[in-house]
Amino acid sequence: MGKVGVDIDHAASIIANGGVVAFPTETVYGLGANALNPNAVAKVFALKERPSFDPLIVHIASVESINLLSSSNDPRVFQLAEKFWPGPLTIVVTKSTIVPGIVTSDLDTVGIRMPSHPIALELIKKSGCVIAAPSANKFGRVSPTRAEHVLKQLPDVDYILDSGKTTVGIESTVVTLDEEGFIILRHGAITHNHLAQVVKPSSARLPKKGLASPGLLKSHYSPSKPLFIASEASKLIDPAKTGYIAFGQKPQGDYKRVEYLSEKADLVEAAAHLFEKIHALEDSDVDYILIDPVPETGIGIAIMDRLRKATFRYR
Ligand code: TXA
Ligand code: MG
Repeated sequence: MGKVGVDIDHAASIIANGGVVAFPTETVYGLGANALNPNAVAKVFALKERPSFDPLIVHIASVESINLLSSSNDPRVFQLAEKFWPGPLTIVVTKSTIVPGIVTSDLDTVGIRMPSHPIALELIKKSGCVIAAPSANKFGRVSPTRAEHVLKQLPDVDYILDSGKTTVGIESTVVTLDEEGFIILRHGAITHNHLAQVVKPSSARLPKKGLASPGLLKSHYSPSKPLFIASEASKLIDPAKTGYIAFGQKPQGDYKRVEYLSEKADLVEAAAHLFEKIHALEDSDVDYILIDPVPETGIGIAIMDRLRKATFRYR
């Protein structure tokens, strides 16, 4: 049997038996293992070369699983779940004793998410497990939006469940709650304004205790080629060696390749194309990548967050 395929039963049995499967979600592909099996979760960290201080999100297929994973009975958790699940929101809550320390990096909290991708939901149900899954890339690199991106970075995974390109294109919003209200630990498609319709925002920018979120690392999502946010200065890089990822208008200059986040300057479309286009240029014959900045409203906040991190080591 091939490593990449569409056999959900096969994938579910690998998970149930302690193996590791890459699977599609609406945001990006995840690298999943039975969250309650520490040995299986250890394989995820090993494959990803992920440092043990960076906790994993546990993916569930029914809201009741919150009660398995969390000792919290904060009604706001259930209000957020009711409004935004299934969907691209991870809620960080106090964990129950059943969650192994390796999943949460020994924090007393756990991130939980119910994805909306039908194949992800079916995989969780068929495996009979709750599934711990980070994005299916090597640590610090660009997240995968296609099965091919996973295979390129993680050829040793047991199986890759292929469902083509993901729709949202960037990772879930990660949110936590303090006494006052919600705190965003990672920006995503569910924005501050969406969350504020259900729960009050906290005046704190970071939670008081515990590690904030490694999602707040300054450098992350780095492509294997130098990536720069386009500005007057960056445009001095030789266009003949450069791939340009444009938002809206065609760039001026004779660039070796031109890709579009969105020709009609639509932010949702841009998010869906972001990692996709970076992967494409990373795998192409260009030496440098330039990318247009986008307006920081709505999902544009999450896009610029990813871009600043992806370009950090080239600044
Ligand atoms: O869209 C997504 O969230 C994808 C798909 C596969 O679900 N997953 C994903 O996982 O992006 P990962 O591991 O690449 O990013 C998870 C983020 C990290 O920034 C991690 O630090 C944060 O969530 N996180 C997880 N558990 C946490 C916790 N208990 N406290 C604070 N941050 C946590
Ligand atoms: Mg990740």
